[in-house]
Amino acid sequence: MTKIHYEIVSEENISMVKDLCNELMAYQKSLATIAPERFDSMSFETRMIPSVKNARANFIVAAMDGDEIVGYVYSNVSPKEVYSNEFATFFDLNSVKGDDVGCLSQFYIKDGYRNLGIGSVLYEKSMEWLDSFKDIDDRFIYVSNGNDAALNFYQRKGFKVSHQILDGFITVLRNN
Ligand SMILES: CC(C)(COP(=O)(O)OP(=O)(O)OC[C@H]1O[C@@H](n2cnc3c(N)ncnc32)[C@H](O)[C@@H]1OP(=O)(O)O)[C@@H](O)C(=O)NCCC(=O)NCCS
Repeated sequence: MTKIHYEIVSEENISMVKDLCNELMAYQKSLATIAPERFDSMSFETRMIPSVKNARANFIVAAMDGDEIVGYVYSNVSPKEVYSNEFATFFDLNSVKGDDVGCLSQFYIKDGYRNLGIGSVLYEKSMEWLDSFKDIDDRFIYVSNGNDAALNFYQRKGFKVSHQILDGFITVLRNN
């Protein structure tokens, strides 16, 4: 494998991550035992585009092997109200003091590139970006059921399981 380099993806170039985003949805469906069919309506168009539009700020970093994108992380800061909608209430809004929250929203490394440290690099870049929002103390990560490897990864990085939503379909992790 050639050396991996990292590129910030601008919102204009967001379609760069489209295929990997759709792979992430299929991957999560393949692991889920609780309501895997929920993923059928989830795609780059239905999840990523609206999320980017609703956020106050977005940060996408791609891991590149030459010209090929082999992974990405997508983080954002959004008004906390975004997380209480007809789909679900993701967390108790009163448990967050500020108006906005940070989220590591999507994370995907292609098969064959996992467990090489690429995810840890992308994770650190995401946390450094979130650190730059001095007034935002609360960070969330949502892990779908069956994805124990991801759950363990985030816990080893210091995130804590908070609660489950949608009858166990999603586990909510937070930094504090
Ligand atoms: C979860 C995911 C993003 C993690 O990325 P990754 O690149 O595999 O993660 P890393 O390689 O940095 O870390 C994984 C393990 O490999 C180990 N590792 C790190 N650097 C390494 C290296 N150079 N060589 C070998 N192993 C290494 C780490 O110790 C780590 O173990 P730890 O979690 O006990 O610390 C990735 O596996 C993935 O995309 N999975 C599929 C999609 C997914 O589940 N996404 C999350 C949705 S919520």
